[in-house]
Parts: sequence; structure tokens; C-alpha cells
Amino acid sequence: NEIKIFSPATVANVSCGFDVLGFCLDSVGDDMVIRKIEKKGIYISKIEGFDLPYETELNVAGVSALAMYNSLDLDFGFEIEIYKKIKPGSGIGSSAASAVGSVFGMNELLGRPYNKTQLTEFAIKGEALASKCEHADNLAPALFGGFTLVKSLKPLEILQIPSPDDLFATIIHPQIEIKTSESRAVLPNQVALSDAITQWSNLGSLVHALHTSDYNLIKNSLHDVIIEPHRSKLIPHYEEVKKVVLKAGALGAGISGSGPSIFSLCKGIEMAKNVEDAMRNVYAKTGIEFDIHVSKIN
Ligand code: HSE
Repeated sequence: NEIKIFSPATVANVSCGFDVLGFCLDSVGDDMVIRKIEKKGIYISKIEGFDLPYETELNVAGVSALAMYNSLDLDFGFEIEIYKKIKPGSGIGSSAASAVGSVFGMNELLGRPYNKTQLTEFAIKGEALASKCEHADNLAPALFGGFTLVKSLKPLEILQIPSPDDLFATIIHPQIEIKTSESRAVLPNQVALSDAITQWSNLGSLVHALHTSDYNLIKNSLHDVIIEPHRSKLIPHYEEVKKVVLKAGALGAGISGSGPSIFSLCKGIEMAKNVEDAMRNVYAKTGIEFDIHVSKIN
């Protein structure tokens, strides 16, 4: 009558795929327990790690759980325990992990009435509470694993994208908070056609490179001419990190989701570890606390 789950962190946007592309990390995530209870309704019974609201309607995991619960006619309820490891506002899908975890756990306990796309649909409601807009580029990889592309939101259509066997991500998370809603507010409403052309050419070629395990093309595609120029100003030492990471051999680097985390993609664990050292060296001098995660992309 209860299930313990690991709800993974994710990297959204991946430089050229703003609001559509994302991938899943296997080394960072929240733990959650979902339990069937006699009392009808959804209750958040425990939160550890960070100070988040217990009121179901104000809690991301609660809101997505309620969306799913209200679609069913059940004569029992659920309680949710959240052991939050992903800091809210870190840029690695903290709210998505919460939103996905509750609906995934409930679905398992109910014998899987819904598929992963339908679960994403419920989770979007929770994600929207945190970021004040509906997007699924962190939710989809958290549910499906690996790389995903959100082809459309209405109707929701998610594509799973294969990736090369030896692809790793190194992520540095400076311990400052950037709210997604704030880092969306700095973005322009209109973009130059020439920038749009560059961006969609890079996104198309990145997806092709992932399909064909073409590391060189991954490297040549990981650029962001639309979002990064605006958001990078919010992240201390961003340009320096990017420079040293590329020098250490990374395929590319960019802002993870809405920041402040910075991700890089690497071929092989050795390169990922070199990149980890390079990132550490930059931030160790700054006095800003940080964590670094290396993750294989499956
Ligand atoms: N695509 C979203 C953004 C991800 O960059 O604003 C953050 O949740």
C-alpha cells in the first residue's frame, strides 16, 4: 500500500532547445513515499530537506497529485512524504521532480491506469504552480528517462530521443536561487529571424547527432543564441566556467534550465571528471558554495 520512489533531477533546454528539449540525470533526485490511506483526498504528511508548503493546493507534488486524483473516482486517498534533495530554484528540475514523483507513485499503486504522457499532463499542473507557466521539458525526461523532446503541449506529444552510450553530463550548481518565473521575465518577446534560423538549425542538428551518435556534431550544435545572452548575466562566473569547461574538452556547456546550474556534455567519464575539476577550480575561488554532479545519460 505504499511505494518509495526516486524522482530524478533533469536538465531542460540543453542550449538550443528552449522549452522543448531535456535529459534526465541518474545521480541526483528526490526520494518520495506515496501511501494509500483510508481518508479521501491528497495529504502532504512529511517534508524534509527544504522548507516547502504542506497545504496540498500550494505544494507542487500536491497539485499534480490532485489533478490526477480528481480525474478518478476513488473511495480512498493518498499521503505523500517528500525527502527533497534538489534545491528549489537550482535549475535542475526541482519542481518537476516533485510534480512527477507524486503522480508516478500513485499510478503504480493504482495498477498503472495512465501512460507516461498522461502522467506528464497531470504533472504540468504542479510545474505551473512553481514556474507560473506550463512547460514540460523537465517533466518529460523525469518520467521517460534519457533525452526527450516535447513536440507539442496541446495536445501533449513527447518524443523519446536516443543518445550515444558514452554520453555524460557534469553539472555545477552554485548555491544561489534563481526562480524560473524571474529568469523567464528577462527574456524578450521577439527574436531576430537570423537568430531563430541559427537556433533551429542547431536544435535539428543536435537531435540528428544524438540519433547518429555523432559526438562532433553534438559539439557543433550545443549553442544558444537566443536565451543564453539574457540569462547568463544572472549567473556569477558563467563565462569563465564555460571557457574552462570547453578547454577541458567538453562537447559544450550551457545554462541548465532557468539556471543558476551550468551543465556540460562530455564523451566518457574521464572527460566528465576533467570538466568537474575545471568547474570546481573556478567556483572554489569565489566563496560561493556549490555542488557538482556527474551523471551518465541513459
Ligand atoms: N524551459 C524552462 C525555462 C525550464 O528555461 O524557463 C525551467 O523550468
